[in-house]
Order: sequence, then C-alpha cells, then structure tokens
Amino acid sequence: MAVPKQKSQPASRQEAQAADVLDASHVRADFPILDRDIHGKKLVYLDNAASTQKPRAVIDAVKHYYERYNSNVHRGVHHLSQEATFAYEGARKRVQALLNAEDDSEIIFTRGTTEAINLVAQTYGRANLGPGDEVLISVMEHHSNIVPWQLVCEQTGATLKAVPIDEHGALVMDELERLLTEKTKIVALGHISNSLGTINPIQKIAAMAHAVSAVLVVDGAQGLPHARVDVRELDADFYAFSGHKVYGPTGIGGLYGRRELLDAMPPWQGGGDMILTVAIDRSTYNDPPFRFEAGTPNIAGAIGLAAALDYVDSLGYERVAAHEAELLAYGTAALEQIEDLRLIGTAPEKAGVLSFVMDGAHPHDVGTILDQEGIAIRTGHHCAQPVMEHFCVPATARASIGIYNTREDIDALVRGLRKVREVFG
Ligand code: ALA
Repeated sequence: MAVPKQKSQPASRQEAQAADVLDASHVRADFPILDRDIHGKKLVYLDNAASTQKPRAVIDAVKHYYERYNSNVHRGVHHLSQEATFAYEGARKRVQALLNAEDDSEIIFTRGTTEAINLVAQTYGRANLGPGDEVLISVMEHHSNIVPWQLVCEQTGATLKAVPIDEHGALVMDELERLLTEKTKIVALGHISNSLGTINPIQKIAAMAHAVSAVLVVDGAQGLPHARVDVRELDADFYAFSGHKVYGPTGIGGLYGRRELLDAMPPWQGGGDMILTVAIDRSTYNDPPFRFEAGTPNIAGAIGLAAALDYVDSLGYERVAAHEAELLAYGTAALEQIEDLRLIGTAPEKAGVLSFVMDGAHPHDVGTILDQEGIAIRTGHHCAQPVMEHFCVPATARASIGIYNTREDIDALVRGLRKVREVFG
C-alpha cells in the first residue's frame, strides 16, 4: 500500500487550518491526559474505539455546569433550572444541527448507543414486528446491535437474519440483496465496524431497505467520531451514537429518529417528564423526544457532549477524516512489515482500526507487553464474537486511531510489537 508523505508540521493551529490539515501536535495540547506517563513511558493511547479521551473544553463545560448552574431541567421556575434547561435543550439543538436532522424533537438523549438501539427495538420493534416478519443485521455487528434484536424477535415471533461478510470483513452485498425481502421490516447495521474498521455503504443500503419498505437503523457508535454524519443524506430512519466515542463524556449518547416514526412509537420507560397526564388507572404521554426520556436525564453529559461536538467541528470533520486515513495507511503499511502478523479486517472502505493477530502470541499477551511500554490498545473479542468466529480467531489485538494520534504513536506501536516478537520468538 502506498503511504502518503508526511506533511511538514505547521507552526500554529491557524496555519494548519489554512493548510487544510489537522495538526495533531496542537490537538494533543487540548487533552490533559496525554501528558501522563504509564509505567515510566509516555502514554500512547490507541484504544479510541473503546473510548476516546476528553479535551479540556469538555471537562470545563461539565465542571462549569456543576459549579455554576447545576439544577434539574424542565421542572423549575427558578433561575438555575432555567439555565440548565436552556443548556440541555441547546445541546439537543447542537446534535440536531451536526446530524442535519430536520427538527430537534428528532434527537433523544440516551445513555449511549446500546440504550438507543434497545429503545428502537423495544418501541418501534415491539410495535411493528410479528410472526413472519424479519429483522436483518450482519455478522460484523457489535453485540449491542445483535442482542436487542434477538430479544425483540423472541418477544414478537419475528425472525432474525444476518448478512455474511467476506474474507476482508466487508458485507457481501449480493447476500444483502437476497436476504432483503418484503418480509424484512427492520435492517440494523453498523456504520463502521468496531472490530474491523469496515465502513458500510449506508446510503446505498438505505435505498435497498426502503425499496422493500423496511426501516434502517444505523449503529453509529464508530461512525460519528470519524466522519461527518448527515442523517438526511444517509437517509437513515434511526441513527444511534455514543458521546464517549466522540471525545465527550460517558453515560450520554443519543438516537436520531424520523419524526413520523417517533410520533407513532409507544413509550419505553415510564416516569417523570415522559407524560402529559397521570391518573391511577391510565396516563397520557408527552410528544417526542420527551416521551422517550423518562426521569432526570444526564444533564451534565448532554452539555459535555455538545462541547465535544463543537470541539470536533472546530477542527473540521474533513480534516479529521483525512488525518485518520493517513495514519491508517501508515499503520497498515508498518504492521504488514511485522513477521507473522495478520491483519483482521482489510475491507477497501475502512476507518482507523488496526485489528490483528500474531502467530505464537495470544492477543492478551500482546496487549500486556504493549502496556508495559505505555501503549494502550484493546484485546479480546471486542463485543463482536460472530466476527471472531468468522475469522476463526478467539480474539484480536486492536489499535484504534483518534484525532490526537500521530505517526510517532504508530512508530511506538511497531517498536512494541517487535518486542512482542522477541519475547514470543
Ligand atoms: N464497543 C467498544 C469497543 O469496541 C467498547 O471497544
């Protein structure tokens, strides 16, 4: 694979932006945790698909909320509650604008992608599925886009089917076409695979799903951190995402849903804020998005998420994508030089994930040796056991790239892997 030439380092963030490149060395200064030493070595953080680090802007936004206007939302006439409500609803508008949703009522805050997918399964799914209906997922899905569909299929009598993947970890599109029939009511697919990095052709799949009147649910946990997401351009009916994967706090994420679908969906969890009236024998329900946000929400999380989205947007999504693509090409070429290392996931359309196995060294041993060098990667099945089964491996080691990573980080990874080779022969 041809490796692009390293761009010369711009002197300032402004110069970098003018040159239309992301200058990771300036970005790094915004992330306090990257100053840490681990086991006496400079931290090299390459576990971004599991969770990203937080820029100071996010940490400050959360701190400011707790220090200056902590209060509940939608419930108080007092000043602090109004400030908190304004910031919380402002965060919703921020997500709406970033995803290019038509209306802010189409954005529901959840704990993250997992909760968002469960919400769709237990509301839209439970209301619309029955015996004879089918839900179509794929073999590359994260468990959070498999198990919720298994549960709702058990509850409704619907059948779950999965599109196979090929030897590179790409969807077999002919099989997708074959499996999509008038029985298919829901297609649920990841935008980008967390274990392989494969980028799925969502727009094309949306057209195919809509041609048989199925709705498309996109697991965007790994999509939003790496590419500009326009839900109208993608033509997704639902798009689920997590804050902590996109440089925001943990415990916050969201679901975009087309308003006419949300309007027809029954509530999921019952409690405060999701109702219009409550009597002992029956209740009436609020409109979306509040119908799906029972109880006090993660207010600080939503505010932190908005700060994270502002931060990534200020860097420029196109620059982020180009930076990560360059590092992926550099890392792929470097890892291909390591003896007896096999990359798992080599689809032509791929985001910044380097999953691999090494002959004679279990992925957990690889991760442990790298940790001693201050390098954080993830090892295991990555909550994608069907992917491991497909590639006949119990686990992989996975380095995943974020906005602050540099070629130096990849070089450190390669040095660490050479140590693994020395230890395991
Ligand atoms: N889903 C996260 C990952 O891929 C935790 O690592």
